[in-house]
Amino acid sequence: MIITGKYPNLRLRRNRKSNWSRRLVSENTLSVNDLILPVFVIEGKNKKIPIKSMPGIFRYSIDKLNQVVGNAVSLKIPMVAIFPYINKNLKNERGAEALNKNNLVCRATNFIKKKYKDKIGVMCDVALDPYTSHGHDGLLKSGKIINDETIKILISQSLIQAEAGCDVIAPSDMMDGRIGLIRKALDKNNFQDVQLLSYAVKYASSFYGPFRDAIGSKNLLKGNKKTYQMDYSNSDEAIREVALDIKEGADMVMVKPGLPYLDIIKNVKNKFKIPVLAYQVSGEYSLIVNSIKQGIVSNKIILETLISFKRAGANAIITYFADKIARDLK
Ligand code: PBG
Repeated sequence: MIITGKYPNLRLRRNRKSNWSRRLVSENTLSVNDLILPVFVIEGKNKKIPIKSMPGIFRYSIDKLNQVVGNAVSLKIPMVAIFPYINKNLKNERGAEALNKNNLVCRATNFIKKKYKDKIGVMCDVALDPYTSHGHDGLLKSGKIINDETIKILISQSLIQAEAGCDVIAPSDMMDGRIGLIRKALDKNNFQDVQLLSYAVKYASSFYGPFRDAIGSKNLLKGNKKTYQMDYSNSDEAIREVALDIKEGADMVMVKPGLPYLDIIKNVKNKFKIPVLAYQVSGEYSLIVNSIKQGIVSNKIILETLISFKRAGANAIITYFADKIARDLK
């Protein structure tokens, strides 16, 4: 710590006295390049369905994706993340629909990449929760989520998503060892250029509630995800998770949820110097939106939260505010 004087000679308020000066000494900024927009897709035609638990967020049918993705492209948002709402009759114990080459995610990805080419990146989640009748990210056997069997399915899921044109494969399942095995499978199948974004540090969090509602897994989920997602009391363990995933070949890592985990983002960034993404999750989004709606806080808190991720060391932020903030930044 370097302090070169003291009051009254030294007055830290001097640098804050006017807007130009504050801009001059500002340490962190947010640009559109820092934003990733999640997009929910649903079967059918001409659908744009509001999600009750996430005011202002919709599920789009593929023919309506233009609206939201086209807008993201024109705002120069670098990437969208696709999440499917799978019809109940397509869900089963093993999440078989995840391996259908023509499933909703694959068709949506294909549509976006054909239409917008390299103007925007597409990222797809690798996990079974949208597809399973029990709402878990992996296979359930005698009350347990079985790791190694699940990975075999996740590998196939990754491959069909890559085949559909997905640029960034993002395993969010928290199985041990999946990053290395998925990397190997991608390389073997000529997908050397497909990036791997590991949800390396994903906590078992109550902030995911609205998302589970958005993808229709909320009422299906049996129990909780504590045997695979991390205990939110832990921080050293986050370093171990990231270290392993880097060794296994992750190009980027994610910390999730966002705001309650800024300390983790900072630790990971300082320690590993690799691209770190923050996920401002659905519960964070809805809390903020509802507080603004009720007039409890102003909408300026959105930017404040996003800058806090940058300050902590995040390279980019997945946020349901991405399009709104990108418009404001313009
Ligand atoms: C599931 C997944 C979740 C989210 C992204 N992928 C939920 C969960 O683990 O139950 C949460 C995103 C959000 O809350 O915005 N693999």
